[in-house]
Amino acid sequence: MMNYVIRKMTVEDLEQVVAIDQISFTLPWPPRSFHFEVTDNPASRCWVAEQDGKIIAMLVAWFIVDELHIASIATHPDFLRQGVGGRLLEHALRSAKEEGALTSFLEVRESNDAAINLYRKFGYAESGHRENYYADNGEDAILMTLNIVAS
Ligand SMILES: CC(C)(COP(=O)(O)OP(=O)(O)OC[C@H]1O[C@@H](n2cnc3c(N)ncnc32)[C@H](O)[C@@H]1OP(=O)(O)O)[C@@H](O)C(=O)NCCC(=O)NCCS
Repeated sequence: MMNYVIRKMTVEDLEQVVAIDQISFTLPWPPRSFHFEVTDNPASRCWVAEQDGKIIAMLVAWFIVDELHIASIATHPDFLRQGVGGRLLEHALRSAKEEGALTSFLEVRESNDAAINLYRKFGYAESGHRENYYADNGEDAILMTLNIVAS
């Protein structure tokens, strides 16, 4: 049974967060980027889902003026499709709404059906296209935007 909590990411989580990032993405972030987000970036809103000391999903977002930019979200491969990513996103959006966020946006690979479905489920809609956005394969990014106030 899933029995996890959602809480702010801490420096102690970073080893497991970096491991999830590296297994989930073809262009993972340098570990120092996560360290910067957690310790030094006042715009960062970093969340994890934790079950019995194990990090099972992570989300990094930037809160700028009245926008929440979802920078990264990933669920550990052993815990995919069990609602964790959705709950993490919901938590980040709810918290940002309380802080005054009006909109949220993100970029997603056009081939990433799982993520696009997740975002659509939350009401994000396609609002633009960034050509040749990803350095590894030149894939385009879809820009998706959500009106947080109306959601
Ligand atoms: C995208 C991701 C974070 C979703 O996490 P998750 O914990 O599996 O998501 P959930 O179980 O909460 O699923 C929520 C919804 O997302 C969609 N979804 C998730 N996985 C999917 C899949 N494999 N295929 C199609 N839709 C999927 C569905 O709409 C799902 O709702 P449903 O289960 O009611 O149909 C996860 O697939 C992941 O870590 N992918 C690798 C990293 C990544 O690509 N991140 C996004 C970068 S933009």
